[in-house]
Amino acid sequence: MSRLVVVSNRIADPRKTAAGGLAVALAEVLNNTGGLWFGWSGKIVDAAEDDDVLFQRAGPVTLAMVDLSQVDHDAFYLGYSNGVLWPVFHYRLDLADFDAGYIGGYRRVNQLFARKLLPLLRPDDVIWVHDYHLIPLAAELRALGCKQRIGFFLHIPLPPPLMLAAIPGHDWLIRALFAYDLVGFQSKADLHHFAGYIEAEAHAQPVDEGRWRAFGRTVQAGAFPIGIDVQEFTALANAPEAVEMYERMRREYSRRRLLVGVDRLDYSKGLPQRMRAFREFLTKNPDLRSSATLIQIASPSRENVNAYTEILHELESLCGSINGNFGELDWMPVRYIHRTVARARLPGLYRASRVALVTPLRDGMNLVAKEFLTAQNADDPGVLVLSRFAGAAEQLGEALLVNPYDTEGTAAAILLALQMPVEERRTRHEALMQTVRRYDVHWWCDSFLAALERTQAEEKGTS
Ligand code: G6P
Repeated sequence: MSRLVVVSNRIADPRKTAAGGLAVALAEVLNNTGGLWFGWSGKIVDAAEDDDVLFQRAGPVTLAMVDLSQVDHDAFYLGYSNGVLWPVFHYRLDLADFDAGYIGGYRRVNQLFARKLLPLLRPDDVIWVHDYHLIPLAAELRALGCKQRIGFFLHIPLPPPLMLAAIPGHDWLIRALFAYDLVGFQSKADLHHFAGYIEAEAHAQPVDEGRWRAFGRTVQAGAFPIGIDVQEFTALANAPEAVEMYERMRREYSRRRLLVGVDRLDYSKGLPQRMRAFREFLTKNPDLRSSATLIQIASPSRENVNAYTEILHELESLCGSINGNFGELDWMPVRYIHRTVARARLPGLYRASRVALVTPLRDGMNLVAKEFLTAQNADDPGVLVLSRFAGAAEQLGEALLVNPYDTEGTAAAILLALQMPVEERRTRHEALMQTVRRYDVHWWCDSFLAALERTQAEEKGTS
């Protein structure tokens, strides 16, 4: 079995529970192959140019990290990755900051990663690059002579062709994807956008199923919806911290139904729209008012990017006005928490909640939806209210699907969810869990790596 080399901007010790997400997802295959995980150390230093790679052992896995200089970090991470790619890929052209200075930093950091990673590679390694920060990494590695198989997975959505075309230098960016052997997306919709873009803008010719030829190269692309580690999350749900959380919430809210939302505080998550829908629900259903409480955890994120400060103020003012207008001496409709809650406690909170509101305006997948379902008691499960614009909606059709821009429709779904009889909750939950179990994180990892293995070896020239 080839050694797996994972590359992503953020890296984490896969042995730690707090790591969650990607770290948990990749832990198994990294462990099995004694793999290498390469990425940013999280440190910003005066000048990173000549800094050595920092190594850290995490069981059988080696973490290899580089520092970034302040200038590079600002242009690469705050600027191009989160000021251009994140908003545009989430359909928010209005929030994009097309500062011409960012692209240089984005290229520099990708070149730095390529330069530092190349000497660590073995001839039969398989390299798996993750997410929008590192789109040109394979092209930079190829330019240095790297011949190994390289796959890329985009964790966030890919927008429709004309929206992509709004990015200055979009052709360079998408061309860079052709230096990979396999490009993976979260959903069929994303894959469809990719095909639409390369056929319209680069006159790509379909070669066969999921293969296109353009820029003198061939690339394989597919949809590989990411899942969760159901066993790991179930174990977390049964561990003392989650059980204690569950019991505490049940005691405190014995007379009330809980609704829960857990998100990074990001404009793509539709938090103000969610609050407006909840306000609409309270207005329309005065009799149900004091029996429902929404707990919204919005963990701080990317606070040095302007759009994030604006969404914070909007959300705080909405929560304040809902509580001010509807609250009673012994009941507040919204509990808003602007902090990160320990991952170990989340399953307890999910299990104690009757409804989860997962209503992003756009989302690559959204794993909170899958974790909420997994944490439920199958005899008396809660209801998932899910945005049709989350990647997860392509798989989770038995959830209550909503359009988060439709305040009244979402408010009606909240009412339906709170009143849903137990038989219907069970039927929906069972069907949903079949999908969550079948397309779990192991399926995601195995099917991506198997597809990468199957790609026909092709001489990948320099970019
Ligand atoms: C999303 C992205 C990840 C990113 C995470 C946290 O899930 O797809 O690549 O790591 O958000 O964002 P941050 O900017 O803190 O890394």
